[in-house]
Amino acid sequence: MNHVRVDLEKTVDHSYDIVIGNDLFASLAEGLSKLNLSKIAIVTDSTVKKLYGKDLFELFKKQGLNSVLVTIPAGEKSKNRTVKARIEDMLISEGFRRDSLILALGGGVVGDIAGFVASTYMRGIPYVYVPTTLLAMVDSSIGGKNGINTASGKNMIGTFYQPKRVFIDLAVLKTLPEKEFRNGITEMIKHGIISDEKFFIFMEDYLEKLLSGDEDALSKAIEWSSTIKRDVVEQDEQEESIRKILNFGHTIGHALEKVSDYALAHGEAVALGMVAEAKIAKAMSILNARDYQKIIDLIEKLGVSPAIPYSARKVLEHTSYDKKSSKGVVQYALPTSIGHMEIDVEAGDDVVLQVLSEMQ
Ligand code: NAD
Ligand code: GLY
Repeated sequence: MNHVRVDLEKTVDHSYDIVIGNDLFASLAEGLSKLNLSKIAIVTDSTVKKLYGKDLFELFKKQGLNSVLVTIPAGEKSKNRTVKARIEDMLISEGFRRDSLILALGGGVVGDIAGFVASTYMRGIPYVYVPTTLLAMVDSSIGGKNGINTASGKNMIGTFYQPKRVFIDLAVLKTLPEKEFRNGITEMIKHGIISDEKFFIFMEDYLEKLLSGDEDALSKAIEWSSTIKRDVVEQDEQEESIRKILNFGHTIGHALEKVSDYALAHGEAVALGMVAEAKIAKAMSILNARDYQKIIDLIEKLGVSPAIPYSARKVLEHTSYDKKSSKGVVQYALPTSIGHMEIDVEAGDDVVLQVLSEMQ
């Protein structure tokens, strides 16, 4: 036998900056104009296009940037193969090349699909993310996960592919509906539960201010929350170990999104998922009673009624599509106390079914 070795060992650097500030569009345009890009695709959704996409496009034009606006219908149902192919076909027909750039302008849906397109188009072109929901600012814009849903479930196809830079422009939160604030705050509460009790206490103390859009509270919470996620991703970019803690609430949450046919938003489903998974952790004597109650109380204070209006068995069945399963057994990331997690927990179907049934 002869061997031809393909030696590809190398050090990679996927580092990038998250810029946080107010009214960043002008400096974004100016920064991009220095990069010698052939073209920019501003990928956005139908709502964000009207609010910010057209203005950004005009600003880019004034700056001499050659850009096109690519708009997808707002909502989770756009995160699919057909829409991804439509974006790709448009990029091809507009002559996008490897010296072009994708700019994702929107919430987690836009970021997930635009990031996925960027990672596969011409085998990968750079992208920049301007998250416009609170959820996208503190969670989905950090860490390079992207993807689309399929008929069998959430985020079934995707890659890890980091943006070149993230611009968190706090000014866009002025138009964000209250429901979307709750969805973002859910992921912030998750960040407290999984690794920072002090941040959890901050969330308890400042919940009303955050919900009312208080700028100082929001600015502090966004920076703190994104730092928590950053710290996790830096240790484990591709979710081989500690990054799994970020999935707290998501195994049940993703199943709920799917079973509701996406009538439940991601944040709403994750809030219910965190309640269910905290109950599972308590039932398995993993989570202590005091911290269990604090988690339930804060989620309820957020305005989430902990009732699941879908068949417990159906939700359980859908957890089997979870990507965190090993050899066909679903594995949960569960809190042991606020700020500490246990990963790869195999909760028996009987416990999960019992908890889901109690929440009907
Ligand atoms: P979304 O992108 O659907 O945005 C929610 C709604 O807010 C949409 O209707 C959108 O048009 C509107 N909107 C966006 N910005 C606005 C603004 N500034 N003013 C007014 N309206 C605005 O949902 P989302 O909650 O941002 O993201 C959820 C998605 O993110 C899910 O698909 C979830 O799976 C994904 N996600 C990904 C990661 C990751 O690491 N990649 C992490 C968490 C969630
Ligand atoms: N939202 C989970 C993660 O980014 O890993």
